[in-house]
Amino acid sequence: MSILVKIADLDLSNKTVLIREDYNVPIKNHEIVDDTRITATLPTIKQVLDEGAKVILVSHLGRPEAGKYDEAFSLAPVAKSLSTKLGIEVPIIKNWVDGIEMSNYQVVLCENVRFEEGEVNNNEELSRKMAQLCQIYINDAFATAHRAQASTHGVAKYASVSAAGPLLISELKALTKALRNPEKPIVAIIGGAKVSTKLTILETLLEKVDTLILGGGIVNTFLKATGYEIGKSLHESNLLDISKKLIEKAKKSNCDIFLPEDVITGDSFDENTVAKTKLASDIEKDDIIMDIGPNTAKQLNEVIKKAKTILWNGPLGVFEFEQFSEGTKNLAQAIASSSAYSVAGGGDTIAAISKFKVEKSISYISTGGGAFLEFVEGKKLPAVAILEEAARVWVAMEKGREL
Ligand code: 3PG
Ligand code: MG
Repeated sequence: MSILVKIADLDLSNKTVLIREDYNVPIKNHEIVDDTRITATLPTIKQVLDEGAKVILVSHLGRPEAGKYDEAFSLAPVAKSLSTKLGIEVPIIKNWVDGIEMSNYQVVLCENVRFEEGEVNNNEELSRKMAQLCQIYINDAFATAHRAQASTHGVAKYASVSAAGPLLISELKALTKALRNPEKPIVAIIGGAKVSTKLTILETLLEKVDTLILGGGIVNTFLKATGYEIGKSLHESNLLDISKKLIEKAKKSNCDIFLPEDVITGDSFDENTVAKTKLASDIEKDDIIMDIGPNTAKQLNEVIKKAKTILWNGPLGVFEFEQFSEGTKNLAQAIASSSAYSVAGGGDTIAAISKFKVEKSISYISTGGGAFLEFVEGKKLPAVAILEEAARVWVAMEKGREL
């Protein structure tokens, strides 16, 4: 890995430290549905606090309209959760951009950074203001590292010192290990609603992996592209040609695209709809495909058993509904029992992993969704690139001081 300034390189005592976190967590009726991303940030916060710093936490939540407060996107539930988990009061600060009154050993959480005009477009003035809030900026938000925004990119240019947090570093290390010289056979599982949002990752993976298992709306689009009737199943009709091209490309690269032989269908998309097992070739006009079938699950187990490296992003079916959860559950358990090096990432994937309680048997669970995919694609993450630049400047300055 290239050079990055780390916490261990710095003296944090009595310093004001701004940490960019990713608290973009699922919230329903003011309750946090999955707190994996919050828990993942605790070791860094504790470490920085223990060194006697004042800690300012910054994050986005969702995609609110900039320039105004909207309670639906407030980070207040996260502040509450942090207070409980850290055992100290973590207040949420609404107006923070122009300065925050703080004492040592205190932690505050700034309200959603995307309420600020200039965050999303990486505005220089906002970046400079954020830099002025602190003596040290730490980016620990791997899951947002694919965004060049004021709190993930601009601020790192103007802060006196910009460092990479331990969570960010461990994510980069684990993913590098999985991808640098992966042991073959490599199996990737890509589920989710849309081919369009995962087009580049699918293209990249076709060239790298031995088997590509598809799920969700993506597999429906591929089934339709190969000539199957898919009824009223979720799919993208404008991507059929592209899907066909991907299938051709896979053949040339000796990548096996795994499509289901049987599926579980329902009549309507709700949790009470009756589940029916059908051959993929027997789907009728009114059917909605919501999971893979038992034969497909068995075949999938065989593929997973032989794998030496597994990459997992996205569920296979509508696992939130009990009668359509077996496919994803079977996959989670197959990965858990495999001795392959397994890496999983993405919001729905993390939710499935915790629902089926296989956290401890996956080699590495990334907090990233989009960032995880862009890293796997081999893209340079802008938030990491700017920290590397800052590190070069820092090293040069430290050397200058020693002379
Ligand atoms: C994510 O959940 O993928 C990250 O928090 C980034 O969120 P965004 O896609 O709204 O930028
Ligand atoms: Mg996203």
